[in-house]
Amino acid sequence: KILVLDFGAQYTQLIARRIRELGVYCEIWAWDHDPAQIAGFGAKGIILSGGPESTTVAGAPRAPQQVFDAGVPILGICYGMQTLAAQLGGATAAADQREFGHAQVELVAPDALLDGLQDRPGSPPRLDVWMSHGDHVAVAPPGFTVTARTERIPVAAMANEARRWYGVQFHPEVTHTKSGQALLRRFVVDICGCATLWTPEHIIEDQIARVRAKVGSDEVILGLSGGVDSSVVAALLHKAIGEQLTCVFVDTGLLRFNEGDQVMATFAEHLGVKVIRVDAAERYFKALAGVTDPEAKRKVIGNLFVEIFDEEAGKLANARWLAQGTIYPDVIESAGSRTGKAHVIKSHHNVGGLPEHMKLGLVEPLRELFKDEVRRLGVELGLPREMVYRHPFPGPGLGVRILGEVRPEYADLLARADHVFIEELRAAGLYDQVSQAFAVFLPVKSVGVVGDARAYEWVIALRAVETVDFMTAHWAQLPYEFLGKVSNRIINELRGISRVVYDISGKPPATIEWE
Ligand code: XMP
Repeated sequence: KILVLDFGAQYTQLIARRIRELGVYCEIWAWDHDPAQIAGFGAKGIILSGGPESTTVAGAPRAPQQVFDAGVPILGICYGMQTLAAQLGGATAAADQREFGHAQVELVAPDALLDGLQDRPGSPPRLDVWMSHGDHVAVAPPGFTVTARTERIPVAAMANEARRWYGVQFHPEVTHTKSGQALLRRFVVDICGCATLWTPEHIIEDQIARVRAKVGSDEVILGLSGGVDSSVVAALLHKAIGEQLTCVFVDTGLLRFNEGDQVMATFAEHLGVKVIRVDAAERYFKALAGVTDPEAKRKVIGNLFVEIFDEEAGKLANARWLAQGTIYPDVIESAGSRTGKAHVIKSHHNVGGLPEHMKLGLVEPLRELFKDEVRRLGVELGLPREMVYRHPFPGPGLGVRILGEVRPEYADLLARADHVFIEELRAAGLYDQVSQAFAVFLPVKSVGVVGDARAYEWVIALRAVETVDFMTAHWAQLPYEFLGKVSNRIINELRGISRVVYDISGKPPATIEWE
């Protein structure tokens, strides 16, 4: 396994994902993580990530001595290389201008990391890479050879072959660096000697063994939401412990069209998982009556979920464990915010914690996985591709897509309109091209003509966005013809809707959801 020490770069998670794609397990720890643990981790190689700081400033983050004492290969990327240079006796320099974007590096001396890589014919060999830095290494430290340079910087890569310590100024983890994945493979497989065993089958086998060892013959409960993470946990645990797993699925009345029946069909009927379905729509609508403030609505929905889940769990006297769909980015983020180093603040507000008195142990089999790994696991476990690659859906569901007060008739109209939109996106081959798409119910009446009479009816807004991380997003430029077709279908098929609009706001300032 590989350890990635995080100096705070945007790209750090990407480094870990790329390495996992190669089939090698790795973890991300903060650069100031307890050094004793770094020494004890048993990494076969250590990667130092990029970061926003400057090594030329006093008190800049440093790699702990344990990294060098570990006796394993080291790869410094961007800031990671600069700190290698600064700590090992080389020199770094601050530039007056940042360099950001495509660049070409010239390979000037062969080493185990770069030798033989070449993106275009010619001599010396050149690589097309992605740069994003201010500072650079001016002088490589003693024992290091300069292996690459560019027109702008004298040290674009450096190597100490005897110790197997390497540094690159560019970002191999970004797809714009053509040979980036080949370079990372060189490092983790050839230089560090890691085996490529981190595959879906292997992960499943490993987790099954770990879950069995942890829970023994105890019973486990899981809140199944229909979302990707809890669905994969359900399939995985079912495979590991079969009848010892009970899922509680709360149908809030605020789910996607027919979602309740689909969840039951997939899990209970098809996979044979024990699922308790709680039809709680009436309770939700009652609790939400008269509530118009978005945050208040979220609270009502979240609290009611906890209440219902608690009631159901109380009936399962033998349950000792609670399974959850926590994934690796959740873990990194909460670690980041604990140490105050998170540069990205995400408020992904899932349904709040469960009551203290439940006293259940936690089973979190996806804790080490990225979302793309979770999806591959889901497919391997036999979940329908359509479910596994679905757009995200907020915990409060349609509750935050019906502006203002939530009423059952609004929810019904919205679920149907949304279904038309999604069905058409799939039919047009556009579903996977947008990151998230949905309909929103606007409780305003506008004039329509129905037959010969004027009618005042509701408005549906369509929203579709493209985004990588959901922190910023562009509205999707869906074809007019397509939008026209969706609008016609919604207006013709749904009584009570006489107008459809398309949301053309970017995030920021508009959030993806309307509430
Ligand atoms: P916003 O609206 O903040 O949404 O741009 C970013 C992403 O988060 C989802 N989202 C939520 N997910 N509970 C959730 O589990 C929520 O309350 C919630 N609000 C927004 C949203 O769907 C988008 O993917």
